[in-house]
Amino acid sequence: MQAVILVGGQATRLLPLTCNIPKVMVPVLNIPFLEHVIRYLKEHQIKHITLAHSRLTQPIESYFGDGSQFGVRLSYAVEDTPLGTAGAVKNAERYLDETFLALNGDIFTDLDITAMIASHLERKAKATIALTPVDDPTSYGLIETNAQGRVTRFLEKPKWSQVTTNMINAGTYVLEPEVLAYIPPQTKVSIEREVFPLLLDQGEPIYGYPSSAYWIDMGTPEKYLQLHRDLLSGKSSQYAPALSGEVVIGGQSRIHPTAQIKGPVMIGDNCTIGRNARLTGPVVIGAGCTILEDTVIEESIIWRNVQLGQHVNLRNSIIADNCCLNADSTIEDSILGDNVTVASGCKLEPGSKIWPGTTVEPKT
Ligand code: GTP
Repeated sequence: MQAVILVGGQATRLLPLTCNIPKVMVPVLNIPFLEHVIRYLKEHQIKHITLAHSRLTQPIESYFGDGSQFGVRLSYAVEDTPLGTAGAVKNAERYLDETFLALNGDIFTDLDITAMIASHLERKAKATIALTPVDDPTSYGLIETNAQGRVTRFLEKPKWSQVTTNMINAGTYVLEPEVLAYIPPQTKVSIEREVFPLLLDQGEPIYGYPSSAYWIDMGTPEKYLQLHRDLLSGKSSQYAPALSGEVVIGGQSRIHPTAQIKGPVMIGDNCTIGRNARLTGPVVIGAGCTILEDTVIEESIIWRNVQLGQHVNLRNSIIADNCCLNADSTIEDSILGDNVTVASGCKLEPGSKIWPGTTVEPKT
């Protein structure tokens, strides 16, 4: 079975984390998000994977290469300009000559894709769309199916009075290569908004595959933090119970004996945690970080090579690579892009988003 993963969107909702790296290279539990997706596909014996991408291609290709280090065979289909979710699949056509899987690259799920593929083949479907339930369906595209699971209607962002199902498109599809004939080459086309409705109009057999397995779209800062909370508390079967509530400390890291660490906390390799530092999980700290004495970190994700001075207060925030938060600074509910410096004594407004390379000085 072949798969194509869509990794080429604009990632505007995750800015400023995605100024210099694509969304799928954002670290989750200290490895790129895409590595989790590739591991999951490999577990389902899907080892020939095409990455459909368009912007910032270099970080992905230099990390994953030909995939051999990860036990898969990777190909790359690059768009000169983003072609949308269907145009990107069409652009990978040369790698797709049998039933294949197409996935949005920003979804973390425990969906049983082996069972989904079996169901697709058994029903002789042209397309099978994974469905996941949501609490508030009014901000999503809903998919109605009949008693046999065949798709009968697509409903974009309905009012509550129009809601007939809470099942939404989960961004994972099993497709027959014939579907590619419905997508014009080198044209921006959306699979969910254009191709699937067209297939339905043409009477092609499209089925839904409902599942209540763990599912999250990590494409916003809130969902990115939520994904960490969920993985560290054992909500996904891919990591439970190994991580659940634990304190995991990487190789060569030094933790001062007076530091107080309340899990779930994951600390990467070569970190230093100073005297009386207090870490209250969920917290993830990437490799090469230094946290000086009396600093408090709560519910935050810190990437690599970040320095936190003495008496820093960091809460509910995301700090990208190579940032430096100097002594006595306070950062709450904020997102810092890479290489940001926060001067001593600075208190950021909650909700701040700081662009890469910025130096934040105290207000005078
Ligand atoms: P936002 O700007 O934050 O909405 O993110 P996005 O541009 O990634 O859009 P969205 O989250 O809707 O995309 C869903 C998935 O499709 C993601 O994995 C994207 O990487 C991918 N994707 C979206 N548009 C394109 C595209 O034009 N080309 C490719 N190759 N992938 C795309």
